[in-house]
Amino acid sequence: MYQCRPSLHPAYGPTQPLPAMLLRFRSLGTLSLLALALTSSALQAQSDEKTPLGKKMAAINTAFKAIGRQIEDPAKNASTLEQITVMETNAKAALTLEPEKKAQVPAAQQAKFVADYKAGIQKFIDTAVKLRTAVKAGKNAEAVAIVDEMKAQQRESHKEFRIRKAGAPPAQ
Ligand code: HEM
Repeated sequence: MYQCRPSLHPAYGPTQPLPAMLLRFRSLGTLSLLALALTSSALQAQSDEKTPLGKKMAAINTAFKAIGRQIEDPAKNASTLEQITVMETNAKAALTLEPEKKAQVPAAQQAKFVADYKAGIQKFIDTAVKLRTAVKAGKNAEAVAIVDEMKAQQRESHKEFRIRKAGAPPAQ
């Protein structure tokens, strides 16, 4: 084709030799790569940005992981109780926020969606209170079972209330 045979193109005829043209193509390619890299890093930064609720969840996550690591150990109960408080404080704050996913729900169903979300957070807070009681009483085996219950709540709630981001692992 005409465009594919640069030697026939008036701009790259005898006045402009083939190597110069290739150089042009090469710098074009470099520019495109640069643009692509910039775009994808901007997108990455965007997806790393947390919503106000995401920040509360991240704090719950850190505390919950610490609890998971030591819940069986009665010697760590004082520290476990501190982490339960962190979880409760952030869950109470989450109660005043709304999931990002609300915007994807039809207007007529949004009020129910938010009410269901709040009921889910309240249930989580109630379970955290139950966990505190068990740990305070030194009932660690019971506490382990309650932590499992909270993991299930997390899984189910995320399926319902959290936006599944492209490339993200399945709901956890
Ligand atoms: C052990 C319990 C839980 C843990 C460890 C947890 C952890 C997380 C984490 C790590 C995120 C992502 C935060 C980010 O980086 O943006 C998240 C997001 C989210 N979680 Fe949880 N979560 C738990 C329970 C719940 C419950 C009970 C609900 C609702 C009833 C819930 C609703 C959400 C929602 C809606 C988001 C998305 C944030 C937004 O929409 O702005 N989570 N959670």
